[in-house]
This record gives sequence, structure tokens and C-alpha cells, in this order.
Amino acid sequence: MPEEATRRARVAVFVSGRGSNMAALLYASRLPGAPYEVALVASNDPDAEGLALAEAEGVATFALSHRGKARGDHDSAMEQAAREAGAEYIALAGYMRILTPGFVQRWEGRMLNIHPSLLPNYTGLDTHARAIAAGDSHGGVSVHLVTEDLDAGEVLGQIRVAIRAGETADSLAERVRFAEHQLYPRVLARHVSRPFDAEWLLGRVRALALALPETHERESHGAPGWRVGTKKSGKYFAYFSDRHHGTPHISLLVKCDGMDELEELVEDQPHAYHKPAYYGASGWLGVILDRADIDWDSVAERLQRSWTAVAPKGATKLINAADSF
Ligand code: GAR
Repeated sequence: MPEEATRRARVAVFVSGRGSNMAALLYASRLPGAPYEVALVASNDPDAEGLALAEAEGVATFALSHRGKARGDHDSAMEQAAREAGAEYIALAGYMRILTPGFVQRWEGRMLNIHPSLLPNYTGLDTHARAIAAGDSHGGVSVHLVTEDLDAGEVLGQIRVAIRAGETADSLAERVRFAEHQLYPRVLARHVSRPFDAEWLLGRVRALALALPETHERESHGAPGWRVGTKKSGKYFAYFSDRHHGTPHISLLVKCDGMDELEELVEDQPHAYHKPAYYGASGWLGVILDRADIDWDSVAERLQRSWTAVAPKGATKLINAADSF
């Protein structure tokens, strides 16, 4: 079986109460082929029901009351527990705390939340009562990425739930809960799989490559590649390699400063760089894309450097001008 199929992302789940969403995430993770495992269940309430359930299921737990503690100190302790458990992602599941900006930033793209409304409608609390009072035909649930603004990050998935005549906030909440338990495990599974999905990686690289001036895409020996200059005489500055020539990686091939830099990077950071077959010999560096901790800013920088190395003089003026702003 290929390595990708067996690799499981480690997720810390934060709860404040019952933990039914945590239970849904946990049991889904125990299905064959699940792409994540629950490495830790942590709570700001040592009496949270969810903690007892996790313990009974043999999952590591961490509890620390927030009472009498500065928000930053409590967040730091929760974050440290997640890191010590080797978590790569944090799933907030009924975690009723607002997080400090630094914490949120460090987990950007890797912290998810479930919210009981069809975002962007009804951020905050009392979502069901507000949807009913507004006369909405549907309530629902959203899973979104956590950003500094409350309930405002990219929505990764939603389910609509019909509001019936005579509906109360409690009756709607109960039905939305069924939808939550379906939605969260699926969205989390898809999200943690994305960094290893060739199509998704290609989409990201393509957007970065084509954002550089005077570029276009052209296939080369069956692999997507990007050139700078005219369609007629442009030169390649990047290729996308999906496990070509027996390499185990999905990678981006870019020009670097020369053989010395290439050999040094591959030796010092073998998890991030490799010397691609054939291309490596002529100075193309392989930037490994299919890894959980990829830094997309550095991928963008590598692309730009490669672009600068091969671009005609006229084009590099454009980027130098853009950089000076
Ligand atoms: C869930 O309904 C979740 O959507 C909501 O808390 C409940 C937790 O239930 N979250 C929020 O309101 C976040 N703003 P659970 O503890 O049984 O999973």
C-alpha cells in the first residue's frame, strides 16, 4: 500500500462540554482508511463530559480550567499540550473560548471549528433562536477555518437543516447536531488529505506560478510546466512533478543558485528538498510539496527566484518595480 494511504494526521480536539462532535470525530477516525487520528482531547473544563468519554476510549486527555488565568497563559498551556501530543491540526468542537491572535496565527490553515449556523449568517451565540426569529426557512451548520475574526474564516463545508413550523431553538439544535456529526468528520478528513492530494497541490502551484509576470503554462513530457517570456521563445522556470521517475514525492522543480546550493539544501533539509532524477544534474531543485508542514511563502519565494533566474531582462524589471512598492 502506498505510504499516503496509511499516513494519518494527528489531530487535537478541544471541547468545553458534552463532546458529541468530538465523539463523532473520534469514531470516524476509527473507520478503515481514515486519514486522521485523534491524538488528544483537551478542555478548559476538567468536568467536561467529553473528557471522560475520551478517557474511556483510550485517548490522551488534558484539562486545565481557565478560571483565574490570563487568556494568553491558558491558551499557551492548551497549545503546548497539543504540541506535546504531536498534533498537526486542532479541531475545535464546542470549545467555547475566544483564542488569542498569536495562537490562531501559529495554526493558520490547521485549526478548524464547527459552528451551528449557515455562516456568514449568525456568528456568535444563540444561532438557532436568531434563525427562527428571522423567519429563515433553514438553519444549519458550518465547518470553517479559524481566523482572528470570530466565525469568519473560510467555510470548508455546510449542511442546511430545514426549520419546521413550531420549531424551538432546542428542537432545531437537536436536529442540527445530527448534521454536525455527519459534516465534521468528512470535512476534517478532506482537509487533512489536501496536502497530499496532487490535484490540490497543482492548483496552488499553478496559481503562484501564473501570478508572476509574463508567464504561461506548457506541458513538458506530460508534466505541467511554467514558462516566462513569449509563447514562442519563453523559458521554463518551474515544473510540477507527480512522483516522476520513481521518486516518492510530489514536487516543484525550480532553478536555484547553482549546484552548491542544491546539494547543501538536499543534505541539510531532506524532508523539504530533493535532487530530482535527470533534472537535478542540470541544476533543478526539487521542492517537496506533499508534507504536512509545508511553508507556502517559501514555495512562492522559490518560484520567484527561479523566475528571476531565467526571465528576460525586460520582465525582471517588472518584478523589481513591483518589489519596491
Ligand atoms: C455544537 O452544536 C457546536 O456547533 C457548538 O457547540 C455545540 C457543542 O456540542 N459550537 C458553537 O456554538 C461554537 N460557537 P458538543 O459538545 O456536543 O459537540
